Amino acid sequence: MATLFDPIRIGNIELKNRIIMAPMTRSRANDEGIQPPFAAEYYAQRASAGLVITEATNISPMAKGYIRTPGIYTDEQIQSWRPITNSLHARGGKIFLQVFHTGRIALPDFLPEQAQPVAPSAVRAKGQNYTDEGMKEFVMPREITREEIVQTVRDFAAAARNAITAGFDGVELHSASGYIVQQFLSTNANLRTDEYGGSIENRTRFLFEVLDAMIAAVGSERVGVKFSPRIPFNDNEETDAEVVYPYILERLNQRNMAYIHVADYTGGDWHAKLYPIYQGVYFAGSGFTKESGAALLEQGGADAIVYGTKLLANPDLPERFRRNAPLNEPDQSTFYVPGEHGYTDYPTLEGTLSSPI
Ligand SMILES: Cc1cc2nc3c(=O)[nH]c(=O)nc-3n(C[C@H](O)[C@H](O)[C@H](O)COP(=O)(O)O)c2cc1C
Repeated sequence: MATLFDPIRIGNIELKNRIIMAPMTRSRANDEGIQPPFAAEYYAQRASAGLVITEATNISPMAKGYIRTPGIYTDEQIQSWRPITNSLHARGGKIFLQVFHTGRIALPDFLPEQAQPVAPSAVRAKGQNYTDEGMKEFVMPREITREEIVQTVRDFAAAARNAITAGFDGVELHSASGYIVQQFLSTNANLRTDEYGGSIENRTRFLFEVLDAMIAAVGSERVGVKFSPRIPFNDNEETDAEVVYPYILERLNQRNMAYIHVADYTGGDWHAKLYPIYQGVYFAGSGFTKESGAALLEQGGADAIVYGTKLLANPDLPERFRRNAPLNEPDQSTFYVPGEHGYTDYPTLEGTLSSPI
């Protein structure tokens, strides 16, 4: 059985180990969604992971749900990713861009001309989102029209194409965390009565339209997708998730994608339920330690393990795992603030060892 340090093939590329960096929003971009030059250093520092998956990136102006999040729909945004993909590749790493649209989780504060967010249905999410003026309640979205659905599918495909132009090895569709794709899957955010709502076939229609458009744009071997069944976040409710996700995975078996990424935030047994169904490469994420990740690989319960906060705080996580070295603790106060502190200045083992006592 595999270990964390064994290579694995996804699509047409080889990952040097099975320690995957989780997508993590860091809110260091400017208001135009352009990454700062020091983002290249942050990502390149983590190039020893088998694969780096970037923070969620907006596919269009209407996608934006968080302050200072990057985009991949203007030339300037695309160019700002170039130093990131170049420096990561120069250090022997591989990198996928995670793309998303936040749907009803967006606040007018982030949208063009304070627009009302769009969502499968006009159902307001309970909860709040953070802004520079503090926490704000989610707002009532308006139901996205059929024409806008067609345009959003096109936007996802264009984002995938732009990611390849920017030098990424592939793209990950964010179908998790209660954003627009999962809003279509959900039983409380999607109350539509047309072909995008109601039955499982209808509620999964948007997901497959988006995935198939991305696959047509860049090839199935360069497309991955993230799921978080029943995540208790962003007011997501999926009363029939036990049927929906096996249905999705069985249909994905026909698509030969780079990988699927499942983050189980429920503390339940989603990996045990889903891994046997999926025939391609399966990444398991959320809450893993070195030991629990290694154990899952050893038991044949996943193909690679995704680490979030541990890689955020430990740029050299694979080396620390190898040496059984202690880990830096993540500093939550710097997760989403501008600047390099808490971003590019977590010490490596090497740095720690060679620093003056
Ligand atoms: C600061 C931070 C930002 C995150 N942003 C994203 C994101 O942009 N996209 C996403 O899919 N998940 C995001 N997540 C969730 C992580 O990808 C991961 O699933 C989560 O941290 C659980 O893994 P862990 O226990 O190894 O940290 C974020 C997590 C953190 C801590």
